[in-house]
Amino acid sequence: MTQDELKQKVAQAALHYIKDVAIIGVGTGSTVNHFIDYLVDFRADIEGAVSSSIASTERLKKIGIPVLDLNAVGTLDVYVDGADEVNPHKQLVKGGGGALTREKIIAAASKKFVCIADETKCVDVLGKFPLPVEVVPMARSYVARELVKLGGQPVWRENFITDNHNVILDVHNLDIIEPIKLEQIINNITGVVTVGIFAMRPADVVLIGKGNEVTTL
Ligand code: 5RP
Repeated sequence: MTQDELKQKVAQAALHYIKDVAIIGVGTGSTVNHFIDYLVDFRADIEGAVSSSIASTERLKKIGIPVLDLNAVGTLDVYVDGADEVNPHKQLVKGGGGALTREKIIAAASKKFVCIADETKCVDVLGKFPLPVEVVPMARSYVARELVKLGGQPVWRENFITDNHNVILDVHNLDIIEPIKLEQIINNITGVVTVGIFAMRPADVVLIGKGNEVTTL
């Protein structure tokens, strides 16, 4: 199977978790795009979705699923989203698509976070994938200097503005041995909006597309 076929298969497997769920949290990325495509067949049962990005919002609306404001919805039963890296503790690196802030908010507001990923995303130690950090634009250089002090090599994602009108620094060469600790440290740098480590609130279930099957962590 190609990587895209694996993404498709794992996206299909996530449908099991949205049975009888009226309002779903929906993430961002190519794996989630497959998930949204599958939702077409379920739209009669779905009252609406809370979306983590403008891109996913557009895709959901296109297939007739109303997109709702998280403030009006309260706690979500299920949130389905992809990841850039997954470790055996269901801790993640996210933000390759730049939607990390809204993704983290929806994950925090959800009872069950179902992560869908193909096997290329599985690692023992997070950090091979450059760690996305969303930063208020005027703090970009300051935050970059602080990230260098932590041993990383931040690279400004040029020509990219997040849905929240901020910038992204992708931090290379970090071995994230203690994900919760590093998440807290980077969160505490002034000017950082969100760090793409999802460890304090990890996934509850990780579905991994591997070979011809989907395994569950
Ligand atoms: C977007 C994300 C995505 O979930 C992550 O980048 C995975 O993307 P894909 O499914 O395209 O591999 O965190 O901000």
